[in-house]
Amino acid sequence: MKTLEANHIILRKLTLDDAEKVEEYASDYDVAKTTLNIPHPYPKGGAQEFITSILEAEKKGKIAIFAITLKDNNSLIGLINISGPNASRRAEIGYWIGKPYWGKGYGTEAATAVIKYGFEEMKHNRIYALAFTDNPGSWRIMEKAGMKHEGVLRQHAVRDGKPVDLTYYAILREEYTG
Ligand SMILES: CC(C)(COP(=O)(O)OP(=O)(O)OC[C@H]1O[C@@H](n2cnc3c(N)ncnc32)[C@H](O)[C@@H]1OP(=O)(O)O)[C@@H](O)C(=O)NCCC(=O)NCCS
Repeated sequence: MKTLEANHIILRKLTLDDAEKVEEYASDYDVAKTTLNIPHPYPKGGAQEFITSILEAEKKGKIAIFAITLKDNNSLIGLINISGPNASRRAEIGYWIGKPYWGKGYGTEAATAVIKYGFEEMKHNRIYALAFTDNPGSWRIMEKAGMKHEGVLRQHAVRDGKPVDLTYYAILREEYTG
C-alpha cells in the first residue's frame, strides 16, 4: 500500500504497533460518540483486535486503512479508511482524529488525500461519506473535500440507544478536479 502525503500529515500503513495510540484516542467518548463503530466504553485490548481484523479485511481487498501521522514527529493522530474495489466502483470513507488534534485541518487534509487515492489509484467512480447531522466538524470536512450534499437519512442508525439522523455526501469521478 502506498504512503500518501499532505501538507502536515502522512498517511501510512497501519500496524499492530499502533494499537496503544489507537486505543488511547478511541477510548475518548468525545471521539466515539459521533461514530457508529467505536464502542464505548472501549474494551481493554480492543485496538489490537480491531487492527488485526481490519488488516485481514485489507488483505482481502475489502478496505484500505491508513494511520494518519504528523509529519513533524511521526506520531499517530487518527485513522482513515476507504472501501476496496467493487463492481459499483463506489467507496465509503470514514475517519477520526484524536481529540488533542481537532480543529487544525488534519481531518480535511486526510479526507482530501484519500479521495485523491480513491479516484486516481483505486479507480473508484463515486466516493461517499456519512456523518451525524449534529457533527458539523465531519460534514464540513466533506464539503471542503469537494463532496456534495445528497440528503439526510432520517434515524438511519442508533448510537447509545438513540436513533440518529445521518447526512450523506458524495463526489463523483466527473466532478473530481484533482
Ligand atoms: C470530525 C473530525 C474528524 C474533524 O476533524 P478535524 O481535524 O478537527 O477537522 P478539520 O480541522 O479539518 O476541520 C474541518 C472543518 O470543520 C470545522 N469544525 C471542526 N470541528 C468542529 C466543531 N466541533 N464544530 C463546528 N465546526 C467544526 C472546522 O472549523 C473546519 O471548517 P472551517 O475550515 O470552515 O473552519 C474530528 O472532530 C473527529 O474525529 N471527531 C470524532 C469522530 C468522528 O466524528 N468522525 C467522523 C465520523 S463521520
